Amino acid sequence: MSTTLRALQADITTLAVDAIVNAANTTLLGGGGVDGAVHRAAGPELLEECRKLGGCRTGDAKLTKGYRLPAKFIIHTVGPVWRGGVNGEPELLASCYSRSIEVAAGAEAQTLAFPSISTGVYGYPIQEAAEIAVATVRSSLRKFTAIREVIFCCFSATDLKVYERLV
Ligand code: AR6
Repeated sequence: MSTTLRALQADITTLAVDAIVNAANTTLLGGGGVDGAVHRAAGPELLEECRKLGGCRTGDAKLTKGYRLPAKFIIHTVGPVWRGGVNGEPELLASCYSRSIEVAAGAEAQTLAFPSISTGVYGYPIQEAAEIAVATVRSSLRKFTAIREVIFCCFSATDLKVYERLV
């Protein structure tokens, strides 16, 4: 079975997919950017569940319910902070995408949307990050063939242009 990859410009909290990915921090207790938007849209029950998870390491991913979101699940992953690119950032960013796909498959999600992890507050350059995102998702999907669709959800039109060239 082949999976559809596409890029679109949207607020990820509005997408009616089985799972959305959140670009969180290691506490999993909320923050700004997409993390703030996800917590606001999902409601306070999300924070309650996150408190029980004991945080998350950079490059790892953890599952919660979606609560008030149209999405059934949220996969919280923690991207690396950009420190010039020679401190393991590419491997850690790739791990965010591959672990998220693994967690999505474990939850039997068939449709999944990613934000552009690490490219906001964490400062990862968009072109490099998008290349890692698309390549890692493509290769992970070879193992998890039940996933039917992966959306790269871009917040800005300039990010969308970068992703559109890659998918
Ligand atoms: N829908 C889709 N994308 C969004 C949305 C949204 N509603 N809001 C922002 N983005 P960032 P990071 C885009 O900073 O770099 C938080 O405080 C945004 O334009 O959200 O991984 C966490 O708690 C950018 O393209 O995440 C962490 O402390 C992308 O999402 C830290 O930020 C990622 O930007 C994580 O930083």
